[in-house]
Amino acid sequence: MSTFVNAKRITTHVLRAMKENKEKIAMLTAYDYSLAKILDLSGIDVILVGDSASNVMAGHQTTLPITLDQMIYHAQSVVRAVERALIVVDLPFGSYQGDSKNALESAIRIMKESGAHAVKAEGGREIKESVERIISAGIPVMGHLGLTPQSIYKYGTYSVRAKEQEEAEKLKEDALLLEDIGCFAVVLEKIPASLSKEVTESLLIPTIGIGAGGQTDGQVLVLHDMLGITKGFNPRFLRRYLDLSTDISNAVIRYIEDVRACDFPNENEQY
Ligand code: KIV
Repeated sequence: MSTFVNAKRITTHVLRAMKENKEKIAMLTAYDYSLAKILDLSGIDVILVGDSASNVMAGHQTTLPITLDQMIYHAQSVVRAVERALIVVDLPFGSYQGDSKNALESAIRIMKESGAHAVKAEGGREIKESVERIISAGIPVMGHLGLTPQSIYKYGTYSVRAKEQEEAEKLKEDALLLEDIGCFAVVLEKIPASLSKEVTESLLIPTIGIGAGGQTDGQVLVLHDMLGITKGFNPRFLRRYLDLSTDISNAVIRYIEDVRACDFPNENEQY
């Protein structure tokens, strides 16, 4: 039985203790009040207000277009719903890479205007100064290494990262650097399982994997992917727990039929 299941509130310290206790951390994305409430009541440890909202909520091809204002809007909706989970919000593309002052201002806006508990930023040594400055203001930062979707145009593909020795070495160094400068956790996205195992064992802070094998301290999936709301995205790492797209479509088809047949509303469904 987990020691932390009954924790009233998940904090960054609880996550660290979970790693020490070898208890896995469950994280999912959410972007709105209703689904965030279900996740929280179901006992999820961490909710990521991911910039994947750009894809799954707004229909963009990449995570690049979403703005800081839009991220804050999604984060505010999630914060209103959640009593237990730790809420982490992605710093969107362009809000932290320019200079560290701009990064700090973006992180402060997220914390002040949404009431979330932490921010996440993609990258290693390239964003060291920004991460340091945010942490020095008392804002917890989750790192993100491996496949970093905000750099899609630099790499050109969403395929597995750090398969070659040189990139794997850089990733290991970046993970240690992020821990050294005070990140409380790091996401490892789409890298070989053997590499994420090595990184996980080398760090005191928890690693949260997506497409990074089973040896990380926790796992994260995009909610709309694991619920089967999104279609046509079938990476090997994705386990679909529902086929909600089909279920919703069937319900809508039945509703349309009922309306057209004058079967809805019936006598008990009116005043
Ligand atoms: O934006 C997002 O959903 C993410 C996860 C894939 C980790 O960054």
